[in-house]
Amino acid sequence: MKDIIRIENLCRDFVVGSETVHALRDVSFSIQPGEFVTIMGTSGSGKSTLLNMLGCLDIPTSGEYYLDGKPVREMGKNDRASYRNLKIGFIFQSYNLLPKTTALENVELPLLYNPSVSKRVRREKALNALKAVGLENRVNHRSNQMSGGQQQRVAIARAMVNDPVILLADEATGNLDTRTSYEILALFQRLHAEGRTIIFVTHNPEIAEFSSRNILLRDGRVVEDKKNSRIGSARQVLEALPKEID
Ligand SMILES: Nc1ncnc2c1ncn2[C@@H]1O[C@H](COP(=O)(O)OP(=O)(O)O)[C@@H](O)[C@H]1O
Ligand SMILES: [Mg+2]
Repeated sequence: MKDIIRIENLCRDFVVGSETVHALRDVSFSIQPGEFVTIMGTSGSGKSTLLNMLGCLDIPTSGEYYLDGKPVREMGKNDRASYRNLKIGFIFQSYNLLPKTTALENVELPLLYNPSVSKRVRREKALNALKAVGLENRVNHRSNQMSGGQQQRVAIARAMVNDPVILLADEATGNLDTRTSYEILALFQRLHAEGRTIIFVTHNPEIAEFSSRNILLRDGRVVEDKKNSRIGSARQVLEALPKEID
């Protein structure tokens, strides 16, 4: 099958004063459509730097990145931005929603850059995305009127509204309690089962059990890259957790 992502000898240096930080050192791998990859590593190992690269938010110091077969280096800035907007959905630890803005408006946002989508279609797509994450009864709630788990669901709906081929998540469960983390993880597993390619960055080794492949980073290098043949069910873990007392 064709690689959706291929990186070759990727390096990213940051120059800070007289020091150079080698955040990524000679990283190479390919990801195929439909994989659910966790990228694991302790704080400072280069996970976010790598994810920003994969999401075309940053450019490598050296090495090549082919997204859906196209060399990202050769794309112009505008091409890269529109490619990113259409092909990639981002989810962050801190949700990055607009404050005091409704769930619906937040999810409609990525579609505003697409002139071929009418206002009516925009609303319809945003409502469908919110429904897919189980928030159909919260569409008019503002960000500050929702729990962390609900805000992360809005962020996931926003990431999915353009029907991207890849979802990139950076510590997406990092701010959430155990139960809510498994709920969000179960949602990612469902999106994966529906055929999405997911790359989920985390420092939490327990999460690798729920993905189909785990890449371990240490000091900016890949030190392990393993397929997981016994993928755990976050839904099952969730059902086994003690119920919350209302
Ligand atoms: N913009 C930046 N400027 C300078 N150094 C950076 C920058 N971003 C990341 N780094 C450094 O690169 C290394 C990897 O960082 P990061 O990718 O954020 O790690 P992780 O997400 O695994 O915690 C760290 O040493 C960090 O301090
Ligand atoms: Mg990070």
